[in-house]
Amino acid sequence: MTLPPPVALGAPLPSPTPSQEMLTRLAVRRSAPAQGLAAPGPDTAQITNILTLAARSPDHGKLTPWRFVVLGSVTRAEIAEKLAAMAVAKSLPSKATAVLAKLTAAPTTVLVVSTARPASKPVWEQELSAGAVCMNLEHAAGAHGFASSWITDWYSFDAEAAALFGVTEDEKVAGFIHLGTPVDPLLERDRPDIAALTTTLP
Ligand SMILES: Cc1cc2nc3c(=O)[nH]c(=O)nc-3n(C[C@H](O)[C@H](O)[C@H](O)COP(=O)(O)O)c2cc1C
Repeated sequence: MTLPPPVALGAPLPSPTPSQEMLTRLAVRRSAPAQGLAAPGPDTAQITNILTLAARSPDHGKLTPWRFVVLGSVTRAEIAEKLAAMAVAKSLPSKATAVLAKLTAAPTTVLVVSTARPASKPVWEQELSAGAVCMNLEHAAGAHGFASSWITDWYSFDAEAAALFGVTEDEKVAGFIHLGTPVDPLLERDRPDIAALTTTLP
């Protein structure tokens, strides 16, 4: 898969056109269980493409309030050992330990870090931009033929644990996006009643 050539700065972009393929993909989009992601995952060139597409996300003020950490399996296994030692001190140690399987299973993981700072735009908006990046990252991975799983878990909210991934005290984990090939078919889950969630005003 190749990305179209970049459009020159300020040059007109293609107008939106209907895409049945995109509609079909969006209609069946489904996260994979992180423990059920196996090789193959994206290679280096595919990761570059996926991050390039993920970064094409709405960003009020063009602050780029996020960054990526590409985590190979060796690094994740090493960090998971340290997290396992920390998990015993958690209120539910066996659960805190068990969820570490979600961190190490996939062939590739991208950590999206929110780097929001009090600036010209509200921090909330900057954090939403990081969430948009996570979602676009999942869509871009899907377009390359990979399934994904957006995970946080306790080590995202524990400053000492997050520091093992290089997340500083003035940053937040937006998500660990695990990428790979699903071992089992992804099963449909219940979906919300859109009418019940929607108010339409004239
Ligand atoms: C910010 C965020 C954090 C999440 N963290 C976890 C998590 O730690 N563990 C988990 O099992 N699912 C987590 N999820 C949910 C899954 O990524 C996924 O959305 C969910 O299983 C529903 O599947 P679907 O995306 O196919 O609807 C998280 C989702 C979001 C948006």
